[in-house]
Amino acid sequence: MSTQADPEKAFYEARYAPFLELRPDDLRFTPAAFLADLENPRKEIYERKELYRATLNALARLNLSGKRVLDYGCGTGDFGLWMATAERAHVTFLDLAENAMEVCRKRAEFSGVAARCETVARDASDLACFEDGVFDLVYGCSSLHHTLKYDGAVSEIMRVLKPGGDLVLSETYGNNRLLNALRRWNWKREKLSYDQGEGVIFDDEHVAILRKHFTEVSLQPIGLFSMAKRALRGRFHLASARAMVRTLQLTDAALIGLIPPLKSQCGEVLVVARGRR
Ligand SMILES: C[S@@+](CC[C@H](N)C(=O)[O-])C[C@H]1O[C@@H](n2cnc3c(N)ncnc32)[C@H](O)[C@@H]1O
Repeated sequence: MSTQADPEKAFYEARYAPFLELRPDDLRFTPAAFLADLENPRKEIYERKELYRATLNALARLNLSGKRVLDYGCGTGDFGLWMATAERAHVTFLDLAENAMEVCRKRAEFSGVAARCETVARDASDLACFEDGVFDLVYGCSSLHHTLKYDGAVSEIMRVLKPGGDLVLSETYGNNRLLNALRRWNWKREKLSYDQGEGVIFDDEHVAILRKHFTEVSLQPIGLFSMAKRALRGRFHLASARAMVRTLQLTDAALIGLIPPLKSQCGEVLVVARGRR
């Protein structure tokens, strides 16, 4: 384990420890409950529902049944569990935090998909525990930006992907300087940026790196002015907050329709990339 990753590991071990105390009913994953949570303004994931709905659609298009998937930097494993249950994929959950792996192991067991799941607690910048070309898909939700600071993170992903395999990323998108300044101000205010590993924001320079390794890289940027939703966090149960976000989303769609390059200034992005054969 690299010492560079140790503060990040300690931060996430502490973050995931409370999940170990949850009852089986609270740990059990069902696709129906996940979809309901995405539409529930009182749930944390509601804020990213556009990105996550686009992600689920992209995963469905890959016909993952029986395929081997790496959920890269998976945390508590929602997307890996989605792929194991809804898509019937064989999922390897991988995260720096051992507590996260224990949570994923329990969740897979209580969700009836343990036979299709395995967990690996490891620094993802070194995937030496996997042979070459074993995964059909590497999926990362808000995780690749944690490992881009290590040499060889992308080449390790390429190595473990089968020829022609896919990489799907649901990421924060960092071309917009104003958004980045606000993010950095917020992390500084919370005194978390270093331990939380948020020093790198995924942007078009990283997309250019992916383009060197993958044959096709498609981007679906999401959220321009509607990124103001971050200021409404905790208030989405109010109809006024939801109406404001909806209005900003309509404004985004109109503006991007008029000026397509504005897409690059969005705050979130879904990346779908296909490896060389
Ligand atoms: C922002 S969280 C995202 C978690 C999960 N994918 C999700 O969307 O809920 C980032 C995750 O990356 C993991 N992580 C950070 N650095 C890592 C590394 N070098 N190797 C493996 N996982 C790492 C953290 O432990 C954490 O679980």
